[in-house]
Parts: sequence; structure tokens; C-alpha cells
Amino acid sequence: MKILVIGGGGREHAIIRKLKENPEVTEVVAIPGNAGIARDAECVSIKATDIDGIVDYVKAHPVDFAVVAPDDPLALGCVDRLHALGVPCFGPDAKAARIEASKVFAKDLMKKYGIPTAAYEVFDDPKAALEYVRTCPLPTVVKADGLALGKGVVICFSRQDAEAAVTAAMVESVFGKSGSRIVIEEFLEGPEVSVLSFTDGHVVKPMVSSMDHKRAGDNDTGLNTGGMGTIAPNPCYTPEVAKRCMDEIFLPTIHAMAQEGCPFKGCLYFGLMVTKDGPKVIEYNCRFGDPETQVVLPLLKSDLLTVMRAVENETLADTPVEFSDGAACCVMLASGGYPGKYEKGKVIDMGRAEEMAQVYHSGTARNESGALVTAGGRVLGVSCTADTLEEAIQKAYAAAAEIKWDGMTLRHDIGRRALSILNKGEM
Ligand code: AMP
Ligand code: GLY
Repeated sequence: MKILVIGGGGREHAIIRKLKENPEVTEVVAIPGNAGIARDAECVSIKATDIDGIVDYVKAHPVDFAVVAPDDPLALGCVDRLHALGVPCFGPDAKAARIEASKVFAKDLMKKYGIPTAAYEVFDDPKAALEYVRTCPLPTVVKADGLALGKGVVICFSRQDAEAAVTAAMVESVFGKSGSRIVIEEFLEGPEVSVLSFTDGHVVKPMVSSMDHKRAGDNDTGLNTGGMGTIAPNPCYTPEVAKRCMDEIFLPTIHAMAQEGCPFKGCLYFGLMVTKDGPKVIEYNCRFGDPETQVVLPLLKSDLLTVMRAVENETLADTPVEFSDGAACCVMLASGGYPGKYEKGKVIDMGRAEEMAQVYHSGTARNESGALVTAGGRVLGVSCTADTLEEAIQKAYAAAAEIKWDGMTLRHDIGRRALSILNKGEM
């Protein structure tokens, strides 16, 4: 079978490695892929957002199955277009992808169907939004409606911060059109849990839970990033929390999407906060998380392609989705300066890392002499599984210590909070 995977980051690298465990998978094409993915798949240099380009490629080079991994092509209707060509796909159509692409759509859905989330107001008019933040409770959270590369959320502790966030989104248009409409919502407190799930629009099968580390610096300091590391499972996701999530959030969301005429098929990512009043939705993503995927898929015991086909064929109810009892840790290695300005093109020395861990490539390329070089903010994800979380963390850091380039940075505390929760039972 020839499989097409759209995307070019660590998440796609992890998906491709997992798909290739199935002996039926004889060929994988990645659009656009990266230098690391090029060792596992044929990379074709078309932008993931160039849907016409992707369609032309598939017309000329037929594939048996396609996986559309990033949010942008999903929101742009890549799956709709591939379906029109008769290509079976994993991923939601554009209508269902609105659950991530429009925060207003997601919030209104939750309100209508009684799914627990932060209280909110929607604004199209900057004057009304500025008026509102003059008296609203603090802290408050200002969110651009549309996709904003994970940067459209500002937590505001003062009125000045809130006014600045509204002005940046609605007046200065720093997120482009994505910020012309905003959501201002209640600030929630509690540990965060990411749950990726497979759903075929009828049933939902959650994957092992995970914890992202979004801030750039140790002890959750510094700027927000795309994610500096992950662990799975997340100790805050106790069996009691999992049951409440299934009854109050997961099933109601699947039913709500079907009821609204846009059944969700693919990977639905629930970004949750476990508040003192129970679990609440912080955000939905219409795709696998990055770097959550780099810890979740290594723990998947079931065959990924079989599960993805069951999602497409709407037979997920009859398809087992099983995870191993162990744990996993992924440490992200980033370019110096990320998430701010950083340099590219630094030669990477891998040491023995690839014998010690799964090294998933996020942002790498080859220079003219063929050497592996950095090509993005997040560069490599070093991922290990083990029987215990403690061991998985040790293994991932030991492998990460092998890798060097000029200016490389990483967080030194991935999983530390999870370990202390496990050891002391404190959140
Ligand atoms: P997002 O870009 O939607 O992933 O949001 C980034 C981060 O902002 C989340 O991971 C949370 O840590 C935080 N966040 C978003 N919404 C809220 C909220 N209502 N209350 C507290 N924190 C929030
Ligand atoms: N790691 C967070 C995300 O993929 O949205």
C-alpha cells in the first residue's frame, strides 16, 4: 500500500514510523516532510497548505490512503478534496475542522450542548471588547477566533494587559483576519491534560493521556512555545477524571458534532483543565498534537493503519485500540532563541542518540554538503518508552545529551512535575 502523509514535523515523523510497522505499508510519501522523514519516506516539496498542488500530485501519483496531519490543510478542506478524488483519508473535513479553526464555533457548540468549558463572550467590535475588559473579572483570557500558530491566546492579569491584547488582535491585526473576532473567557485553574482520541463520528476511543510543557523555560517560565516536551500517561488523568471526561465531554462532543451535521472523523484532541469543579475543555484541536504524538504513538500497541482505516470506514466500534502499560517521555531540542528569533543552518551532531531513542525530526534540512542542519525553531524530539515514567525520562535525557549543535536549547525538567504528582500525590 502507498500512503500519503501531509505535514513535515515531528508529529508526522512519529505517524510515519508507526504506520510503517504494518508490513502492508510498502511506500510512504510525505508532503513536504523534512530531512529526517526523508529516511523513512519519499518527500515531495509541495507546501502542506497548497491544496491544489497536493491534488495535482495525487492525480499524477495515485495513493491508497492519505493522512492529513496539520490544522491548516484540514481547515482548507484537504480531506474534502482528496475524498472527491476517491482517496480514503484520515482526518476531518473542513466543516468538522471548524472545531479548531474557529474558537467561536467551538465555544458556541459547548454552550449549546452543555459541555463544561470556561464562561465566555464573543466580540466583533473592538470598542465593545475594550469596554468589557474595563470591568470583567481578572485574570481574563483573550483568544483570537481563528488559527494563529498557537499564539492567539493571551492570559491577562491586569486591565492594561487585556486592553493591549484586544488592541493587538482587533486593531493592529497581529494575527491577520484570525483576530478580527475574539473570545474573551474566564480564567480557569488546575492541571492541564491532553487527551487525543480516535473517533469515526459514532464512537470515541481516547488514547493514552499526556502532558505538554508549553513554556520555553524550566519551571514553566518564559514564553509560550509549540511545546518543549511531553510525557504520557498524565498522572492527573485518574480513572475518575477519565470517566467524567468520557460522560461529560468526549461523548457529548461527538454527538454534538453529528447533530450539527458535521460528524468528526479523525483525531480529536481534547485540551482539558482539571478544575476543582471537574474537567473542563480549554480547547479542541482537529488533529494529533505535536509533541503529544511523539509520546502517545510509541505506546500504541494496536496497528495504526488498521485504526485509521476503521475511522475512515466508520467501523471503529469493532476495532480494538490498545496501549501498553508503560510510560513515555519526549524532550524537544530547539534552536537558541526559540520561540523568538533564531538562526538556522547549524550542523547537528547526533552522537549515539539514534541507538538510544526514537529521534523524531521537527525542523531539519540538508545543507549543500549533505550535512544534517537545523531548519526550524523546534528541531528534534527525543522520545523514549519504559516501564516507568522515571525510567522513560532518564532514557530520553541520556539520549538528548548525545546531540549537539551551536546554540541548542532544551528544558531540563520535562516530566518533573508529573513525577512529583506520582510520588507525593499532589497536583
Ligand atoms: P492554546 O493556544 O489554545 O493551546 O492555549 C494556550 C494555553 O493557554 C493553554 O494551554 C492554557 O495553558 C492557557 N489557557 C487557555 N485558555 C485558558 C483559560 N480559560 N484559563 C486558563 N488558561 C488558559
Ligand atoms: N502541543 C500542542 C498542540 O499540538 O496544539
